[in-house]
Amino acid sequence: MGKNLDYHLEELRIALDSGDSRRVLPQVHDGETTILDVGCGIGQSLIALGTEGRRCIGIDVDEAAIAHGRKTFGDRLQLEVAGAEQIPLEAGTVDLAMCRVSLPYTNVPRALAQMRRVLRPGGRIWLTLHGRRTAQGYLGEAWQARSPVRMAHVLYILANGWLFELTGRVLPYVTGRYESWQSPQAVSRALARLGFEVAVRVEGRHTVVEGQLPPG
Ligand SMILES: C[S@@+](CC[C@H](N)C(=O)[O-])C[C@H]1O[C@@H](n2cnc3c(N)ncnc32)[C@H](O)[C@@H]1O
Repeated sequence: MGKNLDYHLEELRIALDSGDSRRVLPQVHDGETTILDVGCGIGQSLIALGTEGRRCIGIDVDEAAIAHGRKTFGDRLQLEVAGAEQIPLEAGTVDLAMCRVSLPYTNVPRALAQMRRVLRPGGRIWLTLHGRRTAQGYLGEAWQARSPVRMAHVLYILANGWLFELTGRVLPYVTGRYESWQSPQAVSRALARLGFEVAVRVEGRHTVVEGQLPPG
């Protein structure tokens, strides 16, 4: 967990520093009191958004990250070990569902459908993507590392991104875990199919996709 924990602590520092150009977080609108962060790590984004008067729920498959988050922020956050593909919340109970730098590691269509399920009418989804160029960058790293194992994984990521692009589906790797790249167009199509009105923008080095559900 050491490396992951260092990552989450660094992301917490970035998220708490409004002057840091790497900081990208959703604006919380008036009336959005129940916020879900999918792939939350230790809960860094929720803490940076502010928890006063809000129900802030985070899920992540990383047990050690959730344990650390509970120990540190357990009085402010509700953190659960769970996957994006099976969110342990009732339908229609969340105002804002966010997924920051985590969607690429999920079964994307299933994760989007689960976030849609837990959102209330008029609810909002906020995502950041990994583009094709990010995944292509991994190729050079794998080549430099002379690592056939990493190279095989990178080729899987690239192919899985194209699969999502062309079919809206992704496949797991031999480990059973998922990874892919996503174009804003493919994610927008998937969200539109789920009933969202979609907006895409670039913030710093992140592509942000937001979806709004119609009011009930
Ligand atoms: C790059 S980190 C991003 C953490 C945090 N959202 C942030 O912005 O700093 C990706 C996170 O997604 C989590 N993750 C990977 N696959 C997941 C899945 N299927 N469901 C939920 N979380 C997942 C990882 O454990 C990790 O904490």
